[in-house]
Amino acid sequence: MDCMVGWGITNESKAVMGTKPDGTVKYNTGDTHHVHGSYVDGTYDGKYLFVNDKIHGRVARIRMDTMETDKITEIPNIQGFHGIFTDKRDPVDEKINHTTRVFCGNEFHIPQPNDGRDLDDPKKYFCLFTCVDTETMQVRWQCKVNGNMDLVATSYDGKLACANQYNTENGAHYEDTMSSERDACVFFDVARIEAAIKAGKSFTIGDSKVPVVDGTPDANKDPKTALTCYVPVPKNPHGVNISPDGKYYACSGKLSPTATLIEHASVLKWFNGELKDPREAVVAEPEIGLGPLHTGFDGRGNAYTTLFLDSQIVKWNLDAAMKAFKGDKSAKPVVDRIDVHYQPGHGFTSMGETKEADGKFFISDNKFSKDRLLPVGPLHPEVAQMIDISGDKMKLVGEHTTWPEPHDAIIVRRDRVKTRQVYNLDDFPNAVKDAKDCRVERKGNKVTVYLTSQAPVIGLREFKVKRGDEVTIILTNLDKVEDLTHGFAIPKYNVNFIVNPQETKSVTFKADKPGVYWCYCTHFCHALHLEMRSRMLVEK
Ligand code: CUA
Ligand code: CA
Repeated sequence: MDCMVGWGITNESKAVMGTKPDGTVKYNTGDTHHVHGSYVDGTYDGKYLFVNDKIHGRVARIRMDTMETDKITEIPNIQGFHGIFTDKRDPVDEKINHTTRVFCGNEFHIPQPNDGRDLDDPKKYFCLFTCVDTETMQVRWQCKVNGNMDLVATSYDGKLACANQYNTENGAHYEDTMSSERDACVFFDVARIEAAIKAGKSFTIGDSKVPVVDGTPDANKDPKTALTCYVPVPKNPHGVNISPDGKYYACSGKLSPTATLIEHASVLKWFNGELKDPREAVVAEPEIGLGPLHTGFDGRGNAYTTLFLDSQIVKWNLDAAMKAFKGDKSAKPVVDRIDVHYQPGHGFTSMGETKEADGKFFISDNKFSKDRLLPVGPLHPEVAQMIDISGDKMKLVGEHTTWPEPHDAIIVRRDRVKTRQVYNLDDFPNAVKDAKDCRVERKGNKVTVYLTSQAPVIGLREFKVKRGDEVTIILTNLDKVEDLTHGFAIPKYNVNFIVNPQETKSVTFKADKPGVYWCYCTHFCHALHLEMRSRMLVEK
């Protein structure tokens, strides 16, 4: 719920959230982690953002023109949906050079179906990689994997998606998840998975109708038909990011002081049967510092990785790392380091997840602020820090507090963000297009109140309903001025929402308390903002 805008209050937002007619909300909680944009031709098209909800396995789509969520999809058969990434083009049809899929990495393995079976047998649990259609927001398919998935990345040619795995052991306790020396980065051949599904080589789980293919190593031994490729990487990796030239994936070690560089072309070669061992796809494994997590790129051949334990950002050069890996002792991968405050998690460069990486800025989302800020309570605010990466040495140039804890973000060049300032009245079928149309209509005990707002007037100065009525208020903001938003609150009725210029929203509630209720504007709009009121009169 957002009390300021009325998300969770208006009928329109309830429809997106899946609130039932009796008002029952399926989930009041969420745990968002990662946000990524939609692409055209390898860069942001400014159309959508996608964000995951780890707790309930949901993916939300945000329209970038209004910066509002317009769809939420709950993914079946998964728990702990952590990594998310959009595809950048179609793996088969070259003409489709924009996002149509969002890939979802599943972190917690569960019995399938999770209906009470196999509770005490974690070896039988498994995880699923999921593909969601970005237009319909329906789940297209799922792929069974060995081990779990954490972060997700996608290739620039649309052919591969991948996820780093820290629990290839399928362990149920933390020490079990650390029992192997190496885990993996699992790659998915998107075209092959979709061909297998088309050919009916899929199964379903429980009540879900989503087709599932088998991407476990045992079922994918022959590279020429394999749906998945498991590239071994050091113990419990975290984070996988692709370089803007589309050539390399950097997978961070977390429990190993290394980053593993995996070559995209070599993974494709393995899928074509031209490479014997997936390990041959690893082209560098430089030692970069303690607790490496996430990597951004500057488009000039350098990577910037957050070091959680060292509280640093390390800049390292990809070419030097590859030379050192081949045995060139003069090659020094690490170029520079800078302290951040403190313990960074995600870090990202400006436009760094696109082919237009501009090498200007890096933002470090820090998990702790310790002595950095006044201790305003047991819960401290955290800090995000901006680093200028345009020169040889990194320079800290900005810092601000954030709500705990800053998790992930992207830096999008301003010309890619084309928000609308005023809505189109015709986009709302229920719009009240003229103040003269304000009225109360009754059908039995269902009452609809048609209202407009235009500073400093709410279309009806008062309206009367009866105790027990089901009241729907439809409110259109007739103001056309940019940023001239009105609010509408009803005391004791748990109603408060905003309408932006030329926007229409509605609320429905039961008039169960007789009396006078001042409906007032909650969003500063005019010198007479305080006077902008109406009265709801509820007869007993
Ligand atoms: Cu309308 Cu304040
Ligand atoms: Ca592990």
